[in-house]
Amino acid sequence: MTKKVSFEKIVNDLKEAFRFGSNSFIGVDIGLSSIKIAQIDKRKNGNYKLIHYVSIDVPEGALIEDEIHNQDQILEVLKDAINEIGVENSDCCIGLSGPSTFARRLQLAGGTDEELRDQVMWEAEQYIPFNIDDSILAHHIFGRNEGGGMDVLVVAAKNEIVENFKDIVEKVNLKVKVIDLDSLAMINVFEVISHQKLKKDCSYIIMDIGAQNTNFVIYKNSRIIFVKEMEIGGLMITEEIQRQMGVNYSEAEDLKTNIDENGNLPEEVLEIIDEVLDNFFAEVKKTIDFYLTSSSDESLTSCYITGGGALVPGLIEGLEALLAMDVNVINIFDKIDYDKKNIDEVDLEEIAYRGVVAFGLAMRDLSI
Ligand SMILES: Nc1ncnc2c1ncn2[C@@H]1O[C@H](COP(=O)(O)OP(=O)(O)OP(=O)(O)O)[C@@H](O)[C@H]1O
Ligand SMILES: [Mg+2]
Repeated sequence: MTKKVSFEKIVNDLKEAFRFGSNSFIGVDIGLSSIKIAQIDKRKNGNYKLIHYVSIDVPEGALIEDEIHNQDQILEVLKDAINEIGVENSDCCIGLSGPSTFARRLQLAGGTDEELRDQVMWEAEQYIPFNIDDSILAHHIFGRNEGGGMDVLVVAAKNEIVENFKDIVEKVNLKVKVIDLDSLAMINVFEVISHQKLKKDCSYIIMDIGAQNTNFVIYKNSRIIFVKEMEIGGLMITEEIQRQMGVNYSEAEDLKTNIDENGNLPEEVLEIIDEVLDNFFAEVKKTIDFYLTSSSDESLTSCYITGGGALVPGLIEGLEALLAMDVNVINIFDKIDYDKKNIDEVDLEEIAYRGVVAFGLAMRDLSI
């Protein structure tokens, strides 16, 4: 049976947590290359402050797509991360992505709550690439659309991965209050960062370029209108360096990220990066072309990126040429303060690029 109740239960748990709870919350982002944990305080004036942040590398192959292949290794990294920042027994939100998750904006006829729920089930069943009887399904109503129907975002995740991720995080004594998708967490941050900067009736592309995948979202008039997870990311470059230069995963990661005293990478590595970037751009173009044909949207205005993949040399310039629009890096610290006792200034750039999902999870509005 579909666990519709689970979402309601989570919401109720959350409301309870909110009533008694502190205003600080933890976001746990388990990525292929590293686990990132952020603790964020929401201040009474609505501002956010980063209290703690930790990122610890995940050994090669411990997590592939959304499957935990090596429980012990992931657990070890989680334990180290929790010990480093001392947030045991705290409430947290975990992020999911990958083939066992789903997000899509649907345009529905609307009606009573029950009618809308039926329409969600009916429509979602046609799109979700896995059995909805074995998944958790939730929807968020954006409001009426231009045609008078309802604009709804439907998200789903297979029970199995929800349970797997929840179990492992609970083993390090965190209390899992919410499960969210990485792509939606990224939008939480984007909304705070770009508040008042976005123009009405303009569409924005937002991408989190990770190691194994890139979350791609189109955002317009305060709504997500298109979501796609692309199976491309920094790992494609690492693997190509491994293959062409005959080195292992961590050597390839070092070759890719360690710049010399003049700020340059070896010529051979740069050539490999350029080759792989061409494939990356081709995939991005395919996704945008698909979106444009299905929507006839003519209002794409600019692009915002984040994720470790955004640090790849030449990526921003290449994207600007491909899209013929400005490409900006989301800078969390434009709008979010941080605790200078716990966070070292030298780490800010790395946190800004790779921490967005953990931030968005920690900024989750517990009342919805
Ligand atoms: N300075 C850098 N230059 C180039 N690439 C970098 C740099 N720093 C990190 N990366 C790459 O960014 C990727 C990691 O980014 P990120 O931490 O956002 O991914 P992840 O969250 O672990 O992965 P995913 O979300 O796909 O599971 C890796 O492929 C890594 O090699
Ligand atoms: Mg990631």
